[in-house]
Amino acid sequence: MSADNPTPSGQQPSLLRNWLSLTGLVIVIGSLFSFFLLFLLDAMATFSNPYVGILTYIVTPGFTMMGLVLTIIGALRERRQLHGARGLMPMVVIDLTRPRDRRVLGFFIGGSLIFLLLSAMGSYHTYHFTESVQFCGQTCHTVMQPELVTYQHGPHARVSCTECHIGPGATWFVKAKISGTYQLYATAFDKYPRPIPTPIKNLRPAQETCEQCHWPKKFVGNLERTYNYFLGDETNTPFTLSLLMKVGGADPTHGPEGGIHWHMNVKNKVEYVATDVARQKIPWVRIVDPQGVVTEFRTKGFTNDPASFTIRAMDCMDCHNRPAHKYQTPNDAVNLAISLGHIDRTLPWIKTNAVYALTRDFKTETEALQGIATHLAERYPNEPRIRPVIDVVQQLYRDNFFPEMKASWKIYPDNIGHKNWPGCFRCHDGNHKTEDGKRTIKANDCNACHTILAQGNGPELLQLSPAGQAFKHPGGDYDLTCYDCHNGGL
Ligand code: HEC
Ligand code: HEC
Ligand code: HEC
Ligand code: HEC
Ligand code: HEC
Ligand code: HEC
Repeated sequence: MSADNPTPSGQQPSLLRNWLSLTGLVIVIGSLFSFFLLFLLDAMATFSNPYVGILTYIVTPGFTMMGLVLTIIGALRERRQLHGARGLMPMVVIDLTRPRDRRVLGFFIGGSLIFLLLSAMGSYHTYHFTESVQFCGQTCHTVMQPELVTYQHGPHARVSCTECHIGPGATWFVKAKISGTYQLYATAFDKYPRPIPTPIKNLRPAQETCEQCHWPKKFVGNLERTYNYFLGDETNTPFTLSLLMKVGGADPTHGPEGGIHWHMNVKNKVEYVATDVARQKIPWVRIVDPQGVVTEFRTKGFTNDPASFTIRAMDCMDCHNRPAHKYQTPNDAVNLAISLGHIDRTLPWIKTNAVYALTRDFKTETEALQGIATHLAERYPNEPRIRPVIDVVQQLYRDNFFPEMKASWKIYPDNIGHKNWPGCFRCHDGNHKTEDGKRTIKANDCNACHTILAQGNGPELLQLSPAGQAFKHPGGDYDLTCYDCHNGGL
């Protein structure tokens, strides 16, 4: 290679011979070297550590790029000084008959190929790494801890975070990376909200995430669900309930249309307005049937124009809003642990005491674990059987309560039922009527969504009734809505 104003010796001094470029080159070489070492470590190590991933695929390539930029800036400045203010690219003449030019060209092409290969490999890995559960869930430790832990215990533990939160396609990928970059910043500078608010703004619609795996036309039919409860009395009396959930389907070619999945957007469109951010108060609902007939329901108090609110089309996530991150209520968690035999049911009042231990407010996990141990130990002095129970209750706490992020069942309502939160009763409460008052969204009919096959305990539980039984509420009769009394702690 030669330039149009060769130096007296006929050799052009290297443009790289300046402090900036040399520093840049040292950084490039150093970071490439670390990249190789880290890459080998990541590929061969049997453990998986998110920090190795972050260093390998984000930090080191960052340094390489920075080094390259420094080198180029240095070279440009050097050339400016050599060629004065002309600054124009000197004419490059490559004469392949000259061995030096051949050598330089060879190095140049070889070097470029290696660089391209490395950056292709690097970006491929960076891409995969930033899409991994490891990256989303573990990198920012405390921040994502609640979501990661609950996810690992959910039915989607083998579905990666990005399948639901980003989905396929380029536009959402870019959007996610932009908001992801902000999240990295928020985490690094401790600017993130605690708890992380839901519903997530701009979450990709269910049609493009959930429905990529779950076929909405599928006919589910009836599902049997058994609930094992224990009452808060001295003997922790069991109360079992067997429900036949009428999930049904929404597509007449695959089974009778109707049941709970009738709401899916296959044929009918259900739209609503929520007056609070958490979408717990729904005063207005509209359905558009396949013929285009529109029916509007509203509660008595709601006189506003629905168009002045955001009208949302109901999708899977309006009922299944906790498919991956279910924070169990203390009551559910303890019921499950007793039914599995993890908590000894023969300890008097253990249901009440365990639930109480979990419902108190704690600032940190350490404080909570300590608090649980002291409380239970005080309640059962001289009782060796309480030791294993303390371990179990502490584990329930670790799995479902995250005081550092203020995340727990209290913050994240689950909309699938109606016992602890309004859920289905947000609309099915008997207050949503058409203008003429002739039609009401189904409510209070306890057999509309499920039938009670069996309930109670002992011989009573064996009286199965396919036609359904009336609910025999263990706390006696009531004339309130379930969630007026039940809040997860009762
Ligand atoms: C099966 C789909 C699915 C998977 C897999 C999934 N999520 Fe979620 N995630 C959701 C839904 C649905 C919500 C609630 C959205 C809403 O209410 O707007 C949510 C909410 C969240 C929230 C908001 C706070 C909260 O607890 O509600 C965070 C943060 C989050 N997910 C992170 C993750 C991480 C990290 C992973 C992987 C470890 C993951 N998610 C995997 C579906 C999923
Ligand atoms: C990448 C594929 C995938 C995506 C995306 C996905 N799921 Fe799933 N879903 C699964 C798998 C796999 C299972 C577990 C099936 C099993 O084990 O029987 C499952 C199970 C379920 C179940 C049954 C849970 C149970 O308790 O048995 C529900 C409900 C569900 N998903 C809802 C959703 C919703 C809502 C979304 C969107 C937020 C979603 N899924 C997104 C793959 C997916
Ligand atoms: C009106 C509320 C509602 C809507 C909307 C809804 N579901 Fe469901 N779904 C339910 C209920 C209730 C069940 C019964 C299971 C339970 O109680 O946990 C169920 C059950 C399921 C199951 C478990 C079926 C099985 O065979 O185990 C899957 C999977 C599922 N739904 C997926 C979806 C998907 C995907 C969408 C969106 C296209 C959707 N659901 C929309 C309420 C709803
Ligand atoms: C956003 C409001 C809304 C929510 C939330 C909602 N529904 Fe509905 N649901 C409706 C409307 C509107 C209808 C149609 C009423 C009518 O046709 O008179 C309906 C109809 C139904 C039907 C009768 C379907 C048929 O066969 O005709 C069932 C069953 C049902 N819902 C179950 C549920 C369950 C279970 C949940 C909670 C997991 C739920 N709904 C949550 C609005 C809602
Ligand atoms: C709009 C539909 C709907 C109506 C009406 C309805 N339920 Fe339910 N119910 C559900 C769904 C959905 C669940 C399942 C929640 C889940 O997946 O755990 C449920 C769960 C339950 C449970 C178990 C609760 C738990 O979470 O432990 C009981 C008990 C129950 N229903 C009783 C009743 C009684 C009593 C009535 C009449 C006052 C009634 N339901 C009316 C939809 C309905
Ligand atoms: C007036 C308050 C009140 C109302 C309203 C109420 N409950 Fe209860 N419920 C109680 C009390 C009190 C108990 C007994 C608690 C105990 O002994 O542990 C109880 C116990 C239960 C239990 C068994 C204990 C457990 O671990 O959960 C279930 C299931 C239950 N109720 C479901 C419902 C459902 C479903 C509704 C609405 C249809 C409802 N309750 C409405 C107060 C109420």
